[in-house]
Amino acid sequence: MTTRSSGKIAFVVLRDGTGYLQAVLSKKDVSDAAWDAFGKLTQETSLEVTGTVRADPRAPGGGGVELTAADLTILGPSPDFPITPKEHGTAFLFEHRHLWLRSRRQVAIARVRHEVIQAIRDFFYERNFVLVDTPILTGAIGEAAGHLFATEYFDLGTAYLAQTGQLYVEAAAAALGKVYCFGPTFRAEKSKTRRHLTEFWMVEPEVAWNDSDANMKLQEEFVASIVARALERRKTELAELERDTAPLERIRPPFPRVSYTDAVEKLKALGSDIVWGQDIGGDEETLLAKQYDRPVLVYNYPRVVKAFYMKENPADPRTVLNNDMLAPEGYGEIIGGSQREDDYDKLLARIRAEQLPEEAYSWYLDLRKYGTFVHAGFGLGVERTVAWICGIPHVREAIAFPRTLYKLWP
Ligand code: 4AD
Ligand code: MG
Repeated sequence: MTTRSSGKIAFVVLRDGTGYLQAVLSKKDVSDAAWDAFGKLTQETSLEVTGTVRADPRAPGGGGVELTAADLTILGPSPDFPITPKEHGTAFLFEHRHLWLRSRRQVAIARVRHEVIQAIRDFFYERNFVLVDTPILTGAIGEAAGHLFATEYFDLGTAYLAQTGQLYVEAAAAALGKVYCFGPTFRAEKSKTRRHLTEFWMVEPEVAWNDSDANMKLQEEFVASIVARALERRKTELAELERDTAPLERIRPPFPRVSYTDAVEKLKALGSDIVWGQDIGGDEETLLAKQYDRPVLVYNYPRVVKAFYMKENPADPRTVLNNDMLAPEGYGEIIGGSQREDDYDKLLARIRAEQLPEEAYSWYLDLRKYGTFVHAGFGLGVERTVAWICGIPHVREAIAFPRTLYKLWP
């Protein structure tokens, strides 16, 4: 809460978790104790106020009402709240993240995140996907062996924190058809970019009988529906964040699609020195995505830069049937997805070629041994999506308590 006063009349902006409300105290109408209590108010004091609510469209709370206070009692004083209305450095704010969460911008971001997550759950629920919760403690299995967090696990050796639930939802798709998992995932990457966390939330749908093309269609509908939901229900929050919503209004299917090979040519024409066979890095993603006013789907990357489980492209075996989705406005990759290698021998050859621990993947290979089937899926990173929708520069503000290379506290 914040205060201002002019001798006989005082104003207090209150926050109660549902929104903001301005209370007005008039010295002549309240007890001396209440007027004294007002004088002692400091930022973030918790208090109880009673009074009469009046409609006032100009009221600063934004709710269209103001409270004429009859009484005011301090419940929890707040001496020297460290975060003041003046400018603070980012390091200071993150050290005080537990208190910074109370600021108007952070409250707005939290509500947009909440809406995005509900939009994700509703999208899949309405389309009859079954939620399957996948383990966080796993064997040596995932995206890339070098980026696993390890912990001792009783007599069974080492357990690793899940980088992805994908391999498990592939198993579940054989049972249930359309499934998804949604939870925290962990990457021990030493990346210091504004797009990387060591712990982030990822939603991963997996669909039996979808090929890569159907996979991309699902991604378009999915992302468009999340953005539309945020625009529809979080107008106030996006306004609080001063987000220009015009670019978000344009997010409607179909999204532009460009093959990796064409993307490399486009990037070269834009001045990049990328050569065919190299991964598209963060700066190049930004450069490429700037050419479009909607998210762009880049498909069929070289096999060597992508994960072992992606299906070989029958039309060009140097490439795989995958795609990334790059968000506009410089937000980079928000989705990675692919059709999965469903051929037992090819998958085993890939596991061996990448020198992955074969025993750890034996159950995954079983899925190709017993009634293999065409299937595809993708993973969307929640923090990158929230950062993009909110228009905030760094993913670490898109989660309440971010974990990065430098941050394990608070
Ligand atoms: O491209 P990724 O690594 O794909 C997978 O994990 C697949 N198993 C998904 C699947 O097909 N089921 O990650 C997917 C998305 C990225 O596009 C990005 O949005 C997010 O997860 N992501 C990160 N977000 C924050 N910090 C990181 N370190 C991230 N790594 C990936
Ligand atoms: Mg990726």
